[in-house]
Amino acid sequence: MTAPKKLHVKTYGCQMNVYDSERMAEALAPSGYEVTDRPEDADLILLNTCHIREKAAEKVYSDLGRLRPLRDAKPDLKIGVAGCVAQAEGAEIVARQPLVDLVVGPQTYHRLPDMVRAVEGGSTAIDTDMPEEDKFDHLPKLRTPAARPSAFLTVQEGCDKFCAFCVVPYTRGAEVSRPVDRLLGEARALVARGVREITLLGQNVNGYHGEGPGGVWSLGRLIREMAGIDGLDRIRFTTSHPNDMTDDLIAAHAEVPELMPYLHLPVQSGSDRILKAMNRKHTAESYLAIVDRLRAARPDLALSGDFIVGFPGETEADFEATLDLVRRVRYAAAYTFRYSARPGTPAAEKDAPEQAVAVERLHRLQALIAQQQAEAQAAMVGRETTVLFEKAGREPGQLVGKSEHLMAVHADAPDALLGRIAGVRITESKANSLAAVLV
Ligand code: SAH
Ligand code: SF4
Ligand code: F3S
Repeated sequence: MTAPKKLHVKTYGCQMNVYDSERMAEALAPSGYEVTDRPEDADLILLNTCHIREKAAEKVYSDLGRLRPLRDAKPDLKIGVAGCVAQAEGAEIVARQPLVDLVVGPQTYHRLPDMVRAVEGGSTAIDTDMPEEDKFDHLPKLRTPAARPSAFLTVQEGCDKFCAFCVVPYTRGAEVSRPVDRLLGEARALVARGVREITLLGQNVNGYHGEGPGGVWSLGRLIREMAGIDGLDRIRFTTSHPNDMTDDLIAAHAEVPELMPYLHLPVQSGSDRILKAMNRKHTAESYLAIVDRLRAARPDLALSGDFIVGFPGETEADFEATLDLVRRVRYAAAYTFRYSARPGTPAAEKDAPEQAVAVERLHRLQALIAQQQAEAQAAMVGRETTVLFEKAGREPGQLVGKSEHLMAVHADAPDALLGRIAGVRITESKANSLAAVLV
């Protein structure tokens, strides 16, 4: 018997790539590939890439360059690029970095076994189709035992929104929702393998509209049905667009105890002028109205967001409007990005504010958000909540996990609580985590 071949997957970008990387590994298991954490042991290295900002995309090339010594030491080592850079750049990747044997986009990785066979035979394989068929129908159904009690489940892919700055509609293609029965089946299989918490994923997850019994189901309906799965204690979903935040989904936050009180709802800017230029199709006020309705449904809802600073045409007054919106929302966390012009997007043709101006704004926004995050954490001190313990903490005898509001919590706890949900009382707020005691 030949020794199993080793696969190393490095993941960049969003949670959907994390999910895809796991599915790629499963797709290649029947071809004899076992996953390794160590690139130097691998026979096949896949970089599952992100194209969202220039820095993320360029990092792929510097990382590829660093694989050169591994290839020199092991001439049979095969190297592949998957994900959104693969989709955006296709064969150009091989032209720029001849080390690469394989290029596969996010919608065709179910074809990896055939592609890898071709590559093992000495060919180069490139596939950036956006096929009619659903890759999920062609991927192995069985999932390996869950390494973590919290799992991702992609329910929707692609985006039809075409924000002026964003590559996702081009790299992931049009919005597609997976059918309800597959998702419920996958969720049950995850729970049977020890998963207690599922985060439903989609680039535009609240736009979910999947075929289900009796017609088309919304995300709210899917969540209500999933909440009935025995052993599934926590449900989350990400990422949502304000315009698809329906009454039914807002009501689910009030009515479904398994739906956790945390929502990532990107707004990008607080200036209506910039929102219009971004093609966001909502205003600052309409976003704030949604936040009010969500908080009416679930008063303790923790909100997070995404912001882009230095978008083309952004003035100091536009940026002040963003700070103002942040002050009104009071975020528990937020991700802030300096605008990056992406090839092929409409905004890339416009002039952006000078780098120094954008960097200075970014720092001011980050300071405000850090202050809000500290306040949100401090408000938890003395309160009781639950934690899903996921791994050992830094100190002996400690476990760490996530609270209902997705805050990192550490507590002295027996190993028997790993993978389980336990009640805690928060005792202290630290830089990026909370300390707690079991109750
Ligand atoms: N589908 C999600 C996430 C898209 S990508 C959504 O619509 O919210 C995640 C975040 O990256 C975006 O919310 C945006 O804040 C940021 N982003 C996208 N394109 C960018 C660009 N060209 N420059 C800087 N940040 C960008
Ligand atoms: Fe990109 Fe906008 Fe679609 Fe989000 S909604 S993925 S930011 S185009
Ligand atoms: Fe990046 Fe593609 Fe996700 S561009 S953010 S990996 S959808």
